[in-house]
Amino acid sequence: MTRATAPGKIILFGEHAVVYGRPAIAVPVIDVRAEATLQRAKTSPGFRVVAPDLQRDYFLAEAGSDDPLSRIIQLTLAHLGQTPPPDVVLQISSTIPLGRGLGSGAAISTAIVRALGQFFERPLSPANISNLVYEVEKFYHGTPSGIDNTVVAFEQPVYFIKGVPLKRIGVGWPFTLVIGDTGVIASTKEVVGDLRRRWQADQEYYEGYFDEIGTIAQQARVMIERGVSDIARLGKLMNENQEILETIGVSAPVLGQLIEAARQGGAAGAKLSGAGWGGNMIALVPSQAEVIASVSQALIAAGAVGVIVTEVK
Ligand code: PMV
Repeated sequence: MTRATAPGKIILFGEHAVVYGRPAIAVPVIDVRAEATLQRAKTSPGFRVVAPDLQRDYFLAEAGSDDPLSRIIQLTLAHLGQTPPPDVVLQISSTIPLGRGLGSGAAISTAIVRALGQFFERPLSPANISNLVYEVEKFYHGTPSGIDNTVVAFEQPVYFIKGVPLKRIGVGWPFTLVIGDTGVIASTKEVVGDLRRRWQADQEYYEGYFDEIGTIAQQARVMIERGVSDIARLGKLMNENQEILETIGVSAPVLGQLIEAARQGGAAGAKLSGAGWGGNMIALVPSQAEVIASVSQALIAAGAVGVIVTEVK
């Protein structure tokens, strides 16, 4: 049996502005993962896809052209020169909450590409994997920046600018994040599309805010690389980033409630992460167990349906 996994991700700074060429920072979340296993088919021939979390069980040959799992499988098989598809069972599972800005789609695709590469004894480089996954992201999200596939495939903190060779970030001093899930599934494509329509109507207004977000991401990069011994300063940048995200209309009351609760509970700063309108928020917290617990409890009390604690290092 061949088995491969891929992590979730969060965007620390710069979502949305990154679609318009500004820098953003994203980190892998290794505490949650997607997994793909491949086994030779024992009973029936064909390429069978079994994904209980997605309520899917079907044969590749029967899938429609708009099926995201089939797309990444077909792309990878073509890349590996494997036609016709082999007789296998591909089993997919994930502990990453779906559709909440934690990169579940990119992680599932990455795990599939990795598993197929291993199966054919042709392990693919992170850059190759990222490019294949980006093709699927483009199909589903319209105009993705490419940050999700990059951070998930490379599994490293990244300072990402669309179309520019990847810069990895060294984390000078590990820091702790508490991730709070609103439980609201928001479509990245819709949020990004809505913002694009508003940007088209008044580019000057939005470009100014994107510049401000870009500057915040640059400042954050310097702090993270030097080592965040004083998390208050990085937390302040998160709060500033959140304020702009609210102004440009991608936050939501449900996110605002969790963000406020985290700050009250002792976080140094908090913001939404990903596309917004729902999904997840992140809070930067001192690494003492009691503060982590107090922020986590505050989030649950404020309505979070799930909390993940992760260390960025
Ligand atoms: O897919 P999400 O929710 O992590 O959002 C992606 C981040 C955006 O900047 C909003 C879109 C993009 O393509 O970078």
